[in-house]
Amino acid sequence: MLARMHQLFKRKPIAELVIDEHDSRALKRVLGAGDLVMLAIGAVIGAGIFGAIGTAAAGQVGPDGTVIRYAAGPALIFSFILLGGACALAALCYAELAAMIPQAGSAYAYSYATLGELVAWIIGWDLMLEYAVGNVAVAISWGDYFNSLVRNVGVTLPVWLTTGYRTALLSSNADVHGLLETAPQLFGIPILVNIPAFAIVMLITWLLLRGARESATANTVMVVIKLLVLALFIAVGASHITPANYTPFAPNGFTGIHQGAAIVFFAYIGFDAISTAAEETVNPQRNLPIGILGGLAVCTVIYVVVGAVITGMVPYTELGVADPLARALELIGYSGVGAIVAFGAAISMSAVLLVFQYGQPRIFFAMARDGLLPGWVARVDPKTRIPYTATLVTGILVALASMIGDAAETYDLTNIGTLFAFALVCAGVLVLRVKEPDRPRPFRVPFVWVIAPLGVAACLFIMVGLPYQAWERFGLWLAVGLVLYVLYGFKHSKLRR
Ligand code: ALA
Repeated sequence: MLARMHQLFKRKPIAELVIDEHDSRALKRVLGAGDLVMLAIGAVIGAGIFGAIGTAAAGQVGPDGTVIRYAAGPALIFSFILLGGACALAALCYAELAAMIPQAGSAYAYSYATLGELVAWIIGWDLMLEYAVGNVAVAISWGDYFNSLVRNVGVTLPVWLTTGYRTALLSSNADVHGLLETAPQLFGIPILVNIPAFAIVMLITWLLLRGARESATANTVMVVIKLLVLALFIAVGASHITPANYTPFAPNGFTGIHQGAAIVFFAYIGFDAISTAAEETVNPQRNLPIGILGGLAVCTVIYVVVGAVITGMVPYTELGVADPLARALELIGYSGVGAIVAFGAAISMSAVLLVFQYGQPRIFFAMARDGLLPGWVARVDPKTRIPYTATLVTGILVALASMIGDAAETYDLTNIGTLFAFALVCAGVLVLRVKEPDRPRPFRVPFVWVIAPLGVAACLFIMVGLPYQAWERFGLWLAVGLVLYVLYGFKHSKLRR
C-alpha cells in the first residue's frame, strides 16, 4: 500500500524532459528575447483589459440582487499594482524552472519533475481551466466586441443569437434575464446561443488545423495593433478626465480592491504561456527570464495607466458592461474612436485565442505521451505535424462551451485554476532546490526562501477574493480530475510502468 502511495509521487527525471537541441526531434530555435516579450504581450493583453476590467471597477450583482463582487471603483489601479507584484513573484519562479527545464509542457512538465506524477496530473487537468475555459471567456468577450462593431455599421443581430444561455440565467439585468422567457423555444428550452463566440473559436481551430502556426511576425503585427489602440484610448481618455469621477476613490475599501484583483487577474494570464515556447527559443536560459519578466513589466504599466484613465473618464458605475473601453469612449462622445478600439480589441482577443487554442492541445499531447491520457490524443498528423485530433476536439468543446457560457463565471474559474498552478510552480522551485541543489540553474530566483513562499501566499490571497461559487466549482473540477486519474492515468502511466 505504502509502495503504491509512494509511486503516486514518482518524479520524472529532468534529463528525460529536456530534449537535446541537436536531436532530430527538437524544434527549431528561432525566437530571441524581443520576440518573447512580444509573444508575452500577444498572449496577455486581451479580454481581461478589454472586458473583465469593467466588472472589477463596477462590481457584480446576481439576478436576485445579492452582491457577488464589490466594486473596486477608481482604486482598481491598486488591484493592478497588487497583481503586478504577485505575478512578478510567480514569474521569477517560472523563469527559474523554464530556464532549467526548457521543455514545451510548462507547469505540467515542471510538476512532473518536482512534485511527482499525481501533482503533475492535477496541474495538467487544472491547466485546462487556464487554457480551454479561459478561451471560453475570451471568445464570449470577443463576441461582445464583435456585436458592438457590427452595431456601429447599422447591423443588429437578434439578441437570442448573441447571448449564451448561462449569461441570461445569471444576469441581474431584467431584460437579459427575461430572455429566458422571450427567446424562441425548442421543446420548452429557450434557444439562447452566442453564435459569434462559437464561430470565432471554430475559425481559429480551422486555422490551426491547416497547420497555420502563429509565427512571431504575425504575432508582432497583432501586438502592434493592440498597443496602438490602447495608446489611442489612453490619449483620448486622458484628455477627458473629470476629477470628480475619482470620488469616492475606493467605494468598498480594501474588499473592493481585493475582489477586483481576483477577477482582473485574468488580464495577467499568459505571461507564463511563453514558457511553452522554450524549445523554440535561442539561448532559453537567458531569453526566457527576460521574456517572462519583461512582458509582465510592460503589461503592468499599461494596465495601471488604462485603469487610471478609464475610471477618470466616466463614473465607475457605468463600466459594468461587456465592452467597457468602447462604452467609456461612447459616453464621452467619441463613438468613432470607440469603434476603432472595439476593432483593436477583437484583433487582440483573436491573438489570445490563437495562442491558448494552440497551447491546450499541446498540453494534452504531452500528457498523452506520458500515458496519462489515451494514445489517440498524442497522434500527430503525418502531413502537418500537429496534434490534429486533440486540436479538433479541443476546438469543438471550447466552441460549444462559448456558445452557451457566461463570461464572468468562466473568468472566475480560469483565475482560480491558474492561481493554483502558479502557487504550485512557486512551491516546485523550493522542492527542487532541496532535492537537486547542485543541478545547474541558468536563472536563479533571488532570495528564493522569501520570494517563493511569498509567491504561494500571494496566489492564495488572491484566490480568497474569488466568490464562493468559484471555489465550489474548482473543488468539483479537481474531484472529477482525480476520479479520471484513478480510472485511467494511474494504470497507464508510462513512467511507472
Ligand atoms: N490575459 C488574457 C486576456 O486577458 C488571457 O485575454
